[in-house]
Amino acid sequence: MTKPMEEMRDGQSIELLKELHILTRDGKINQDSRRKLKQVYHLYGFVEPLLKDLQQSGADLNLVDHGAGKSYLGFIIYDLFYKSLPNGHIYGVETRDELVKKSSELQKKLGFKNMSFLNVSVNESIQSQKLPENIDIVTALHACDTATDDAIDFALNRNAKHIFLVPCCQAEIAKALRQNKAKQLASPLTEIWRHPIHTREFGSHLTNVLRCLRLEAHGYKVTVTELVGLEHSMKNELIVATKIEGPRKRASDRLQWILNEVGLHDLQSRFATPIIQENIV
Ligand SMILES: C[S@@+](CC[C@H](N)C(=O)[O-])C[C@H]1O[C@@H](n2cnc3c(N)ncnc32)[C@H](O)[C@@H]1O
Repeated sequence: MTKPMEEMRDGQSIELLKELHILTRDGKINQDSRRKLKQVYHLYGFVEPLLKDLQQSGADLNLVDHGAGKSYLGFIIYDLFYKSLPNGHIYGVETRDELVKKSSELQKKLGFKNMSFLNVSVNESIQSQKLPENIDIVTALHACDTATDDAIDFALNRNAKHIFLVPCCQAEIAKALRQNKAKQLASPLTEIWRHPIHTREFGSHLTNVLRCLRLEAHGYKVTVTELVGLEHSMKNELIVATKIEGPRKRASDRLQWILNEVGLHDLQSRFATPIIQENIV
């Protein structure tokens, strides 16, 4: 155990950190939670300036965290930024009922009134009446498998201004590459994923490349960076997307080209969602 002071921010709720087991009962930092806290703080470093800009522009400050789990991210962002605001709302979307119940109880206990937790899948949340039309920020931190793609669907559907994704493992593309390997062998490009380990690694890499292109095709400026050093987490890629313009043909064409070249036509609907033709650049 070490002293928590260097990990703590001004005004942070000790009660929250204890409830999230980041601090022990006697107020020391819990070593097992240190990695999670580091990830969340690092992500918050990207989110905070955008929240300030949104606040100045008079935005509603609605944030949806998909695959929220125990809602570390939502609670810490609320505690550090939303707690003192008259407006703004953080929504956690999570399929595990017990986690949703626990987060709801904690939110009531702490008096974090502008937080809600929904027991629905990311995909179902797109139609949910419990979420407002206007969403400013979408986050998905290690949301499992295709939940990250569903979070992108949600963000595009709501025209979210900012999107933060730290993808988890996604097996869909690797599976499709594996299935199509024999058919694709004529192309020298197949060498990139011919060996099983390469199929998995390339599949994972390609998934994130296609996600970025999809966001760019919809007018987002995309930055890909590390969440924290690899010693802290193997799933370490942070994709930050900010809506800056209308649909972009170049990104859309490139996405399509890659899908065709590597024989992933069947995944059209996942990655190449039709974009509105007007205002295309
Ligand atoms: C690896 S945990 C990450 C939790 C949290 N975001 C974090 O980083 O601490 C992934 C969470 O996503 C939830 N999840 C997986 N697929 C989901 C889906 N399609 N819709 C909503 N939640 C989902 C799981 O139940 C799990 O709690």
